[in-house]
Amino acid sequence: MVFHPVLTYMMGTDRVLGLLPLLVLAFLCESLYCKPNNDVRSLAEITREISGYRAIAQKIIHLAVQGEAQNRSYDRLAAFTDTVGNRISGSRNLEVAIKYMYSALIQDGLENVHLEQVKVPHWVRGQESAMMVLPRNHTMTILGLGSSVGTSSQGVEAEVLVVESFEELRSRASEAKGKIVVYNQPFVSYGETVAYRAYGASEAAKVGAVASLIRSITPVSINSPHTGWQDYQPGVPHIPTACITIEDAEMMARMARRGQKIVVRLRMGAQTLPDADSFNTVAEIVGSEHPEQVVLLSGHLDSWDVGQGAMDDGGGVAISWEALSLLRDLGLRPKRTIRMVLWTAEEQGGVGASQYFERHKGNISNFDLVMESDLGTFSPLGLQFSGTKQAEAVMQEVVKLLAPINTTALEEHGEGTDIELWMEAGVPGASLHTADEKYFWFHHTEGDTMTVQSPVEMNLCSALWAVVAYVVADLDDMLPR
Ligand SMILES: *[C@@H]1O[C@H](CO)[C@@H](O)[C@H](O)[C@H]1NC(C)=O
Ligand SMILES: *[C@@H]1O[C@H](CO)[C@@H](O)[C@H](O)[C@H]1NC(C)=O
Ligand SMILES: *[C@@H]1O[C@H](CO)[C@@H](O)[C@H](O)[C@H]1NC(C)=O
Ligand SMILES: *[C@@H]1O[C@H](CO)[C@@H](O)[C@H](O)[C@H]1NC(C)=O
Ligand SMILES: [Zn+2]
Repeated sequence: MVFHPVLTYMMGTDRVLGLLPLLVLAFLCESLYCKPNNDVRSLAEITREISGYRAIAQKIIHLAVQGEAQNRSYDRLAAFTDTVGNRISGSRNLEVAIKYMYSALIQDGLENVHLEQVKVPHWVRGQESAMMVLPRNHTMTILGLGSSVGTSSQGVEAEVLVVESFEELRSRASEAKGKIVVYNQPFVSYGETVAYRAYGASEAAKVGAVASLIRSITPVSINSPHTGWQDYQPGVPHIPTACITIEDAEMMARMARRGQKIVVRLRMGAQTLPDADSFNTVAEIVGSEHPEQVVLLSGHLDSWDVGQGAMDDGGGVAISWEALSLLRDLGLRPKRTIRMVLWTAEEQGGVGASQYFERHKGNISNFDLVMESDLGTFSPLGLQFSGTKQAEAVMQEVVKLLAPINTTALEEHGEGTDIELWMEAGVPGASLHTADEKYFWFHHTEGDTMTVQSPVEMNLCSALWAVVAYVVADLDDMLPR
């Protein structure tokens, strides 16, 4: 994750408001008006049905956490990321990653393993550097932002204007012309603060800046820049833009407060090449009774071009694959199909996922539940879920099956860039909530490596993911909408 959580939040609110009439209806249904309804089974009946899965859930959990499969998802992810490394949209590494995963899924004996072709953005970083030349010489550690233009080969050298917010930039607009705007905005939350990464360049260009440098979107730094996608606004000049470390942003703010003149020389070789071919990678356990009905579980296979993409989103990929392997090992074939999709080009804004949606939305009535893990695979705390009140009531019973690993919490607001479109169209959605306090320390940095991952935590995430997917896919009825 994540592209534009600010927008996601807004869509989230719309979605909740849009559901209000349904919620009211659901309440009325549960209280009196709709009972008895011959089409809809009573919650008591569904509860009984779900509690019948206790032994199976226990078996899945045992296999993942103490049994033969212990540490398998971690070991697979380590082999994958150590072999392939990071894999940005359009890169040769991403092609290698997709081929690697395709072969591995076939070798693992999964069903309907195939690739679905999509077009993806192809941005390349090139060589980049930033030197402070006044008030002293200092080499800055930077990461250019995805979709940024480069500089000329000599680079741009200009005086710096440090601001703490977009408001301050607007109030000091007359000082910005010909300068490099440095944003030293405080970190509030990823969802809120990421607006500076996404829109900082265009806002600076509007007031005549020649480049923008943005304090990395993270609460904590060990001199680590964090990259990510950024968006040029139409009709505004495209200026080069990069993230800098918290340390450098704060130092420049201190220098500016002392009235010191700051000059930086920025060189970026970034380029956008024509869109490339890529693929969403698919594998299934085909349903025994309703093979056309689908529980979709997913993570994204692409990453940024730094670190190993082990956390973002190698973890989500590995536990989704592991969930299928666990069920296969136990000979569990649910009534409905469990389909894993490993998305491509999530980091550029859910590009692979939106083409998948366009291709498959004709079958939307057969999509029972869409799941994505893209917020880390640390110790699981619960399942985040979006759906109607009635669907929520069913899911409340499903997560009770996770009592052996103490993750029976059902939380509001399922999320994931790649499943967003399905959820907006009314399909119930779920995401994994883990102890992710440190997620944004590593997000989109050189520090996103296997060292962040823990086999024990991944075992627990895999168990949760497999139990939820299996039970929902095997229930007599699809989740209510
Ligand atoms: C799984 O990983 C944990 C933590 O590293 C380790 O203690 C345990 O021995 C491993 N189990 C197996 C079967 O390798
Ligand atoms: C800074 O580095 C430049 C070479 O890039 C050098 O000419 C200059 O003397 C240095 N300035 C200081 C103050 O050391
Ligand atoms: C839609 O479902 C039908 C019936 O299972 C299937 O034959 C078809 O391939 C599906 N179409 C897509 C685009 O998934
Ligand atoms: C179970 O989870 C709750 C809430 O997350 C926590 O307070 C409690 O300590 C956990 N218990 C065990 C045995 O892990
Ligand atoms: Zn991600």
